[in-house]
Formats: sequence, C-alpha cells, structure tokens
Amino acid sequence: MSPTAVEAPLLLLFLLAAALLCPLGGARLLVEMTVVRNASSIGAFCLDGSLPAYHLDRGFGAGAGNWLLQFEGGGWCNDVKSCFERANSRRGSTHLMTKWEDFSGILSNNASLNPDFYNWNRVKLRYCDGASFAGDALFDNGTSVLHFKGQKIWESIILDLLPKGLGTARKALLSGCSAGGLATFLHCENFTNYLPRNASVKCLSDAGFFLDLRDIGLNHTMRNFYKDLVALQGMEQNLNKNCTASSYFPELCIFPQYSLKYITTPFFILNSAYDVFQFHHGLVPPSADLHGHWNHCKLNPAECSELQIQVLQGLRISMLSALRLFHEYSSRGGMFINSCFAHCQSESQDTWFAPDSPTIDNKTIAESVGDWYFGRRNVKEIDCAYPCDSSCHNLIP
Ligand SMILES: *[C@@H]1O[C@H](CO)[C@@H](O)[C@H](O)[C@H]1NC(C)=O
Ligand SMILES: *[C@@H]1O[C@H](CO)[C@@H](O)[C@H](O)[C@H]1NC(C)=O
Ligand SMILES: *[C@@H]1O[C@H](CO)[C@@H](O)[C@H](O)[C@H]1NC(C)=O
Ligand SMILES: *[C@@H]1O[C@H](CO)[C@@H](O)[C@H](O)[C@H]1NC(C)=O
Ligand SMILES: *[C@@H]1O[C@H](CO)[C@@H](O)[C@H](O)[C@H]1NC(C)=O
Ligand SMILES: *[C@@H]1O[C@H](CO)[C@@H](O)[C@H](O)[C@H]1NC(C)=O
Ligand SMILES: *[C@@H]1O[C@H](CO)[C@@H](O)[C@H](O)[C@H]1NC(C)=O
Ligand SMILES: *[C@@H]1O[C@H](CO)[C@@H](O)[C@H](O)[C@H]1NC(C)=O
Repeated sequence: MSPTAVEAPLLLLFLLAAALLCPLGGARLLVEMTVVRNASSIGAFCLDGSLPAYHLDRGFGAGAGNWLLQFEGGGWCNDVKSCFERANSRRGSTHLMTKWEDFSGILSNNASLNPDFYNWNRVKLRYCDGASFAGDALFDNGTSVLHFKGQKIWESIILDLLPKGLGTARKALLSGCSAGGLATFLHCENFTNYLPRNASVKCLSDAGFFLDLRDIGLNHTMRNFYKDLVALQGMEQNLNKNCTASSYFPELCIFPQYSLKYITTPFFILNSAYDVFQFHHGLVPPSADLHGHWNHCKLNPAECSELQIQVLQGLRISMLSALRLFHEYSSRGGMFINSCFAHCQSESQDTWFAPDSPTIDNKTIAESVGDWYFGRRNVKEIDCAYPCDSSCHNLIP
C-alpha cells in the first residue's frame, strides 16, 4: 500500500474539519471552479495556454437578480522570465490552481458576515494572465509560448456569465483587490456597457489605487515597472481610450490617478493610505534600500524611526492629493481611505465585517460600501493619520 493511501482518509477528515470550522464560528463556504470551455473560440488563454476559470455561487431571495464580480489579485509579470515562472505556478495556470475557493468577506453568503451582498450571485474571476486581465499579445520564439490574453479572459468570462443571468442583472458591482483592484479601474466602463441600461452598475477597487510615485531614491520604480508591463503584454490598446487620447504618455493611463476622471460609472475607492504593497514595492523597493535600513520598519510600523514615519506620511499625502478631485467633485463616488498598514480589506472577514474590524467614524468597511452602494448616505471617509486609528489591529500581514 502506498503511503498516500494510508494518509488519504486522515487528510479527508482534516479537510472536512477545516471546511466546517472557521474563525468566526460559521461554516466556511467552498465554491467549485467553472472552467470556461468556450474561451478558446475567442483566443482567451492563461499564460501557459490553459483555459480561464471562475467560481460562481448563486444568489437567492431578493438578491437573485443581482451580481457581484470580483477579480482575483496577485501581482503582475512584466518580463519574459517572470512570466514563464508565473506560467508554471497557480498564478499563471488554472491547471495549478485550487479547484475550490473559500468565499469570505464580501463574497460570504451569510447575512451576519456580509450584510448587503450575501444573497447576490457572487463570482470570483481567477487571475492567470499577469496583467490585471488587460493584456492582448503573444510571446512565441519558436520553442516557447506565453499567452498575454487577459483582456480576452475578461471577455470570455463575461460572455459566459451573460446567459447565466448577468445579462439581465438588476444590480451589479465589479470589485477586486490589488492587481484585481487595478483591473476594476481598467474594466469598469466596459462592464457597464455589457449590462442592461436600466441596471444599477457600480465598481469597487480595494487596494488598487497604485500611485505614480517616486521611491525614496527618487527613481520611478512603479512607473518603470508598469511601462514594461504595458509594453510586454500589449495593454495600451485596452487602457481607457479617453485617457490615452489626451495623454502624451498613454501607457501611464494604467495608473488610476490619470484614468479616474474618465470613468463615469459610480466608483468606490477602498485603500489604506499606507498600503503595504505600495510601501514595500513602490516607495521603498529593495533596490532603493540596499542596506536594509527599512527592514524593521517594513515589518512593524512601531519600529520606524521619526524620519521613516515622515516618509510614510508623505505617502499618505500623495495618495490624498491624487484623490482630491475625486473627493471633492465625484458626486456618485465613494471612498474609504484608512490608516491601517494593510493591503486588501474586502476579502477577509476580519477586515470586512467583524466586531473588531477597522472602522472610520465607527463604520466598518462593509457598512461603508453598502451605505454608498444603496445610497443610504454619502461615504467619503478619510481617516486621521497614523497612528491615531485604534481600530487597526492587524498591522502588516
Ligand atoms: C453566519 O455567521 C454567524 C456569525 O459568525 C454564525 O453564528 C452563523 O452560524 C452563520 N450562519 C451560517 C448559516 O453559517
Ligand atoms: C461559444 O463561442 C461561440 C463564438 O464566440 C459562440 O457563437 C457560441 O454561442 C458560444 N457557445 C457557448 C455555449 O457559449
Ligand atoms: C525561448 O524562450 C525561452 C524562455 O525565455 C528560452 O528558454 C528559449 O531558449 C528560447 N528559445 C529560443 C529559440 O530563443
Ligand atoms: C429593466 O428593463 C427590463 C425590460 O424592460 C425589465 O424586465 C427589468 O425589470 C428592468 N430592470 C430594472 C432593474 O428596472
Ligand atoms: C469591451 O471591451 C472589448 C475589448 O476592448 C470590446 O471588444 C467590447 O466591444 C467591449 N464591450 C462592450 C460591451 O463595450
Ligand atoms: C534607480 O534605479 C536604477 C535602475 O534600477 C538603479 O541602478 C539605481 O541604483 C537606482 N537609484 C536609486 C537612488 O535608487
Ligand atoms: C470620452 O470620449 C468620448 C468620445 O470623444 C466622449 O464622447 C466622452 O464624453 C468622453 N468621456 C469622458 C468621461 O470624458
Ligand atoms: C458604534 O457602533 C456600534 C454598532 O453599530 C454601536 O453599538 C456603538 O454605540 C457605536 N459607538 C459610538 C461611539 O458611536
């Protein structure tokens, strides 16, 4: 007998126990993957050539006609080498992904964990292209191929969902975190165009407001990274056309701060002013801190020096000034810019909606997003600067 055969029943028991218990007492919701079999007809493939996929949990009751689509996140690959690595990982191939996904936070089906969206149709779009679902190119040197087909993946999933009820949605929300939050900015207008004119369509970006920011060595680290990404994956044609048409540097329209004013669909921006990804990769990338002076501060803000805190306050100021026009003039927009050292706050239950979740003005993120979506109040929340917010219990993951 092989060792796997002995361990299998134990493993099964363990998985069953893990599936039934969750930190907040309720049952975990695991949702099975749906592969988009028809995707090849429009040339939609993951980096490695596998077919795209999503996970759908059906809505019920009053939410049965409403749809929440959430882009999975997970960084980007902006050169051939890193894209080949990605193609051989769960980030570039649906063959290598988990086939069951845990739906929590904004994807939960439990009203006491997700008060406004729990009974909607909820969909997680798997991320396997490395360019926020917006590339359209092919790398082929005769021996190896990489598919840069994020835009086609987006289209193939939408086309698959339209006849399943999305095409007659009454309410819809496009969301996503990190690279998925950036995808929300990139696809919000296109999403609206697929839905009925009389539907209420809105978009939510979580930790996707990546700034065109100089690092502490004054290098344009993020800008250079994104320029390479846009060029490699053929993204420019899929950036906001109003933005690219009015810019000398159309590739920079990948930055939400430049394309935001051309998005007419109501938009909610959820972000930490000290977003941990931007702190670690945009503001203080390893290339700008060769001696590791920031290592302790990166892991725990309480360890930052006075000077480092000042630099971090600069990150917050940059973000707030990039959002100033949106804050003042977007009548249908919403925002929640808190001061927790975090990255992604809508997907995990403890930051989305729990008794000790982060709040601004005593409102959790779930309440704020719901209040904005359903027009219960104006939600343009900006937290006071670090370290004033005592609801930030989960500093740096
Ligand atoms: C919903 O969540 C609450 C709070 O965690 C929990 O007590 C309840 O059992 C959950 N309901 C279901 C059906 O899982
Ligand atoms: C598959 O794609 C083709 C071409 O786009 C389309 O005509 C057909 O209706 C699709 N079939 C399904 C089942 O989605
Ligand atoms: C094609 O690219 C791959 C990955 O970079 C490389 O290993 C291979 O040698 C290349 N083949 C040719 C013919 O250049
Ligand atoms: C939109 O219009 C269609 C067709 O007239 C109708 O069936 C549907 O109920 C309307 N949806 C909303 C949200 O009003
Ligand atoms: C969405 O974008 C794709 C790619 O740019 C385009 O072909 C398609 O027509 C757009 N869909 C709608 C409904 O505007
Ligand atoms: C700026 O970036 C270049 C290229 O990555 C690097 O060689 C240089 O050391 C960087 N300078 C600073 C001050 O970080
Ligand atoms: C985008 O460009 C089109 C065509 O030029 C124009 O009609 C539309 O008003 C523009 N939208 C925004 C939000 O600027
Ligand atoms: C904060 O909200 C909770 C739950 O909505 C409420 O019980 C509590 O009284 C509020 N606290 C303050 C200071 O407003």
